[in-house]
Amino acid sequence: MAKIIAPSVLSCDFANVQRDVEMINGSNADWFHVDVMDGVFVPNISFGFPVVKAIKKHAKKPLDVHVMIVNPDQYVEEFKNAGADILTVHYEACPHLHRTIQLIKSHGMKAGVALNPHTPVDALQDVITDLELVLIMSVNPGFGGQKFITNAISKVKAARDLISSTGSNALIEVDGGVNLETGAELIAAGADALVAGSFVFKSNDPKQTIADLKAL
Ligand code: DX5
Ligand code: ZN
Repeated sequence: MAKIIAPSVLSCDFANVQRDVEMINGSNADWFHVDVMDGVFVPNISFGFPVVKAIKKHAKKPLDVHVMIVNPDQYVEEFKNAGADILTVHYEACPHLHRTIQLIKSHGMKAGVALNPHTPVDALQDVITDLELVLIMSVNPGFGGQKFITNAISKVKAARDLISSTGSNALIEVDGGVNLETGAELIAAGADALVAGSFVFKSNDPKQTIADLKAL
């Protein structure tokens, strides 16, 4: 059974954010996955603080905020103020990652680090015990609806090994191209949390789709 399901609001109907947030409130989902993109770190712009705050206003579950932005340190406090409970930054965007992680924690948020498909899990060896979350990207970040990169499955196993060997409490979350098939493989490989955007919101019955993911 999947421990944590985090629907990505990137795929919601932004003209009906409240309605879609209420749908997630009333579902088996555990977190809201909130994707912030700056058009620099990734080739797309999603939304900023006003939208995060609007989601927070109605959300009855934690906000799992995934920031795909350069220089995230300068916005950590603002993400806290906007309602982030977990703040995940990209390894590739943080030259002083240890400092960034401590900064996130100093603001009372859980700290996560995301790895692009080309970044090996080993890169986290020296910070893994400081982390609450490792986010394995199973697509190149920037867009919903992309094809799952199967190498993510061996990265989940590598992350599980790193976490076990170091005694870290970090959860393993996977993001991109998750559906019932890839989700089952990821859970079997040791994932704790699954993000799903288009698979949930493009389905005929999003609540049931969330329940199906939860039952994996
Ligand atoms: C991609 C985002 C994802 C995205 C996933 O850059 O980080 O969270 O919403 O979308 P799907 O589930 O459609 O691949
Ligand atoms: Zn994401």
